[in-house]
Amino acid sequence: MKKEMNFNLPSINEARRRTKNSPKIEHQLFDIPVQLRNMGTGRLYYLRTYGCQANQRDSETIAGILELMGYKACDSEEEADVILLNTCAIRKNAEDKVLGEIGNLKKLKRRNPDLIIGVGGCMAQEEAIVKELLCKYPQVDLIFGTHNIANLPRLLANAVFAKEKTVEVFSKEGEIIEDLPSSRFQQHKAWVNIMYGCDKFCSYCIVPYTRGKERSRLIEDILKEVDELIKGGYKEVCLLGQNVNAYGKDLGMEAGFATLLEAVAKTGIARIRFMTSHPWNFDDNTVAICGKYANIMPYIHLPLQSGNDEILRKMNRRYTASEYRTLFDKLKKAIPGCSFTTDIIVGFPNESDEAFEDTLAMVDYCQFDNAFTFIFSPRIGTPAYNMTDSIDAKTKEERLARLNKKVAYYANQANQRFLDQVVEVLVDGYSKKNENVFSGYTKENKLVNFQSENVKPGDIVKVKITAVKSFSLDGKMIEE
Ligand code: SAH
Ligand code: SF4
Ligand code: F3S
Repeated sequence: MKKEMNFNLPSINEARRRTKNSPKIEHQLFDIPVQLRNMGTGRLYYLRTYGCQANQRDSETIAGILELMGYKACDSEEEADVILLNTCAIRKNAEDKVLGEIGNLKKLKRRNPDLIIGVGGCMAQEEAIVKELLCKYPQVDLIFGTHNIANLPRLLANAVFAKEKTVEVFSKEGEIIEDLPSSRFQQHKAWVNIMYGCDKFCSYCIVPYTRGKERSRLIEDILKEVDELIKGGYKEVCLLGQNVNAYGKDLGMEAGFATLLEAVAKTGIARIRFMTSHPWNFDDNTVAICGKYANIMPYIHLPLQSGNDEILRKMNRRYTASEYRTLFDKLKKAIPGCSFTTDIIVGFPNESDEAFEDTLAMVDYCQFDNAFTFIFSPRIGTPAYNMTDSIDAKTKEERLARLNKKVAYYANQANQRFLDQVVEVLVDGYSKKNENVFSGYTKENKLVNFQSENVKPGDIVKVKITAVKSFSLDGKMIEE
């Protein structure tokens, strides 16, 4: 039986708390103790990431830290000395997937008792999940929260050398720790955090509890990162936040996101994207900046969630269907050729047939390029978890299927506009099946598979579209 160190367990009540305190921004905090700098030499780590771009970006930091400690990445769990899962808590099926994976890892642990299995990310911030991991999954050696990534060297060392089950999850509002190492997963496109956390508290959503208070990085720190990326040959940055439109509010900036976006546009980087936009904070300054700079891509992800005012109110989204339409129309007018995607939840507690029809009507109105659709999943600790619900699971499944059919129809329709057109594609890579087939994305964020010779990942090339599918385009590169 392993010794147990002082556990630092998450608390949903603490995670809910918000104060007026400004978050601390630390520039020189991160350091790896000298004696831990080589602890990974000759050892392999396997890192698996679930969930959203915030987690992808965190995983790049986790990888950066492990590599500074001498660990090297590997592609299979069987070879690894350390396995880390960076998890997502957004819906129950996301969690079930992770728990299933941890279950599968048990046999590896039995074969190699020195293997370290660690769980980080949003599930690690959940009180109920951590209790379950501690009771039912003895193979897990290390649990670390989203606010504890910078402490990974110390935590990992404790798990490895002291052979103690190690749990450190702070449920605080969170600070900002700059200058963490990172090992980026892509070479031409980079995620850039502009802010952390979320204060919107949509009634169904766990993110404000797993990620803490809304807190913005300083504009100069963001621009420094973008400049370094440009120097490193990056062609595209995606500015990340749960609600990028709230950027800078906590720093007392008036039109924070518009100001930041314009400054990033002026760096001259070829392509700028951002996500996620919240309709509530999307101001006219930002709309204007999006229309003004050619290197801000004509692509907006604007989550709708529902087209019904009563449901939107119960979701605490703070806009009406008509306000959403007004913003949508404004963006469409300001950004010629812009593509739009959205997120929609069906089966929110007591969603009536009429309310669901309102959502379908919004999809007919906006004719989205694509939509990510979900059945409501109750999350412990959120207000919607306690709402009684009269809608049965079968009705929810039927609604999802109807919605998805409509979404696919409009996705295909929206792609038709590209047939026979010439588009600019940032090349991602080669097709595994055919070395003369490449893939990449258009400005509008459309996936294109195209034939060419003589191109390499990172090039921006012109492609003539020859065939259109619902979720991708086919084409042939044209020589300049
Ligand atoms: N910050 C972003 C997205 C966060 S999560 C935003 O505000 O849009 C991504 C999507 O997951 C959400 O837009 C929502 O559609 C969906 N989602 C969040 N919580 C959910 C839940 N409890 N059940 C089902 N879908 C959920
Ligand atoms: Fe969740 Fe709402 Fe915050 Fe998005 S804005 S992360 S949906 S609480
Ligand atoms: Fe999932 Fe956490 Fe992102 S819950 S969607 S990984 S912020």
